[in-house]
Formats: sequence, C-alpha cells, structure tokens
Amino acid sequence: MLDAIAARRSIRKFKNTPVPRHIIEEIIKAGALAPSSKNRQPWHFVVTTGKAKEEALAAMEQGLHREAQQPFLPESAQYIAGAWNTLAIMRQAPIIIFVVNPLGLDLLTPQNAENRVFEICNTQSIGAAVENMSLAAVEAGLGSLWICDTYFAQQELCTWLVGELAAAFALGYADEEPAPRPRKNFDDIVEWRS
Ligand SMILES: Cc1cc2nc3c(=O)[nH]c(=O)nc-3n(C[C@H](O)[C@H](O)[C@H](O)COP(=O)(O)O)c2cc1C
Repeated sequence: MLDAIAARRSIRKFKNTPVPRHIIEEIIKAGALAPSSKNRQPWHFVVTTGKAKEEALAAMEQGLHREAQQPFLPESAQYIAGAWNTLAIMRQAPIIIFVVNPLGLDLLTPQNAENRVFEICNTQSIGAAVENMSLAAVEAGLGSLWICDTYFAQQELCTWLVGELAAAFALGYADEEPAPRPRKNFDDIVEWRS
C-alpha cells in the first residue's frame, strides 16, 4: 500500500505557517491527474486565502444562518451543528480550495436518468481528484480536510464562486496528529463471488 494512503488523516487543526505557492500547485496538479468519466475533467479549482477566503466563508456563514429559517436540506437539520464546526475549521485553515464542477447540474432541478448518471459520473471523477489531492498533500508534508458541509450553504457559495460547488478542501500544515478513525470490518464489506 502506498505510505500516503495509510498516513492520511482528516486534519481539523492547522498551523498558520504559509504554504509556498508551488506546493499548492503541485497538489492541484495531482488532482488534475485523476481519471474522469469520458475524460471530461469536470473540475475547476478556486484557491482562496486571506480576504477572498474570508468573503467565501462569510457567504457560507450567511447560508448556515439562512438554513435555520429556510432550510435547503430540512432532513439534515441534525447535522447543522457539525457544519458550524466545519466552518470554524475552515476559518482556521490557511487555504481553502473550492472544487467547482463546471458541468454541474442545479441541485434543486429534478433530473432525468441520463442527467443523473452524467452527474454521478462527474461527481465520482471529482472524488478521485480530491483524493489525489489529499494524498499529494501527505507527500508534501501537509494536512487536509475534504469538506461537504458546504452543501448547507450551496446557493450562497455558488453565487460567490459563480459556479456549481462540488467540494471544499482545507489545506495547511497540520497542528494535530489524529489517530486513525475506525474502519468497518474487512469481511463485512467484501463479498467474493466466483
Ligand atoms: C465527501 C466527504 C465529505 C466530508 N465532509 C466533511 C466535513 O464537511 N467536515 C468534516 O469535518 N469532515 C468531513 N469529511 C471528513 C470525514 O469525516 C473523514 O474522512 C472520516 O471521518 C474518516 O476520517 P479520516 O479521513 O481521518 O480517515 C468528509 C469526507 C468526505 C470523503
């Protein structure tokens, strides 16, 4: 197994040591080397630091407040506290990379089967890119956090980004060494057929 796969952890506490731009570029290039459905490469990376990051996170905060009044994801209300926690982590992280899906379909518009398959394949491709970025971050001595709590503030963040947000990625030098989180029992997740 690649060492980076075993060493990777979700990091939720970062040092404020600046990350050189060439390292950020290397990590995004690793993302862009991911396989993608029909080689569509459905990704656009918006790298935010400083004032731009504050603006984006203000949009997310506005969305979390709005979610309490006019929920976009009413059945997920139990996870809102977690989203506030994720927002605090994002504020503390020196870099937030927003992964925009330029081919993404509006979440509120019902889709036919064709479009859903298109969306699922593009989303899997983006997942592959984000995982590559997570592993490249480990190789570069950095920590990262893959984030989807942004979906509570999808409208607000998409307006700020001018694009359909798929995931966010917090990046920086780790200021914690979390233990591995438990995994399901191997025999319970694998079924052999011959
Ligand atoms: C698609 C996806 C979305 C995630 N969203 C969040 C998030 O919004 N906030 C958060 O703190 N962690 C988030 N995580 C991190 C998971 O909680 C974490 O991967 C899981 O608990 C396993 O821990 P590990 O990554 O350290 O192995 C997300 C992970 C994935 C793959």
